[in-house]
Amino acid sequence: MPTQDRPVTVRVVPMPADTNSMGDIFGGWIMSQVDIAGGIAAARRAQGRVVTVAVNALEFKKPVFVGDVVSCYAEVIRVGKTSITVTIDVYAERRAVPENVKVTEATFTYVAIGDDGRPREVPPPQPSPTSGQEGGLSDP
Ligand SMILES: CC(C)(COP(=O)(O)OP(=O)(O)OC[C@H]1O[C@@H](n2cnc3c(N)ncnc32)[C@H](O)[C@@H]1OP(=O)(O)O)[C@@H](O)C(=O)NCCC(=O)NCCS
Repeated sequence: MPTQDRPVTVRVVPMPADTNSMGDIFGGWIMSQVDIAGGIAAARRAQGRVVTVAVNALEFKKPVFVGDVVSCYAEVIRVGKTSITVTIDVYAERRAVPENVKVTEATFTYVAIGDDGRPREVPPPQPSPTSGQEGGLSDP
């Protein structure tokens, strides 16, 4: 399914406080949104707590501007014994002109953990009311 036909995992508008002194959006702000979106997809698949173990890839392809509507689409691409790998595509809808451009591509890995903070096995996938409807809910 084309990315933009999937339901969005995180949608947010950057504010002036998210910029550096030159008025450009911090890459770290986008990374944070990406991590939140990937974490949502991973936690759903893990049916519980996860932590980020690795940023496998991250590319800022186009700039993000204050006032853009930023949408993150997360999809689980691999499930290991305790780890879950997620790709996150980020699009920005510009304020001034009606265009939606891909601004960031990322792949993050999460580990399912128990109450003790140690890795736990990812359970088998379970159908849910939104299964297949939301980014990151289905196994590859
Ligand atoms: C995540 C954490 C619990 C893993 O504990 P660990 O004892 O290293 O666990 P393991 O070595 O058994 O690895 C667990 C899984 O993570 C995977 N993994 C570990 N390091 C990885 C890396 N750099 N890249 C991709 N996968 C990795 C392993 O392959 C394994 O996957 P599998 O079970 O599906 O085969 C531990 O490293 C941790 O607490 N890290 C801090 C996490 C955190 O706080 N994140 C927030 C940022 S501050």
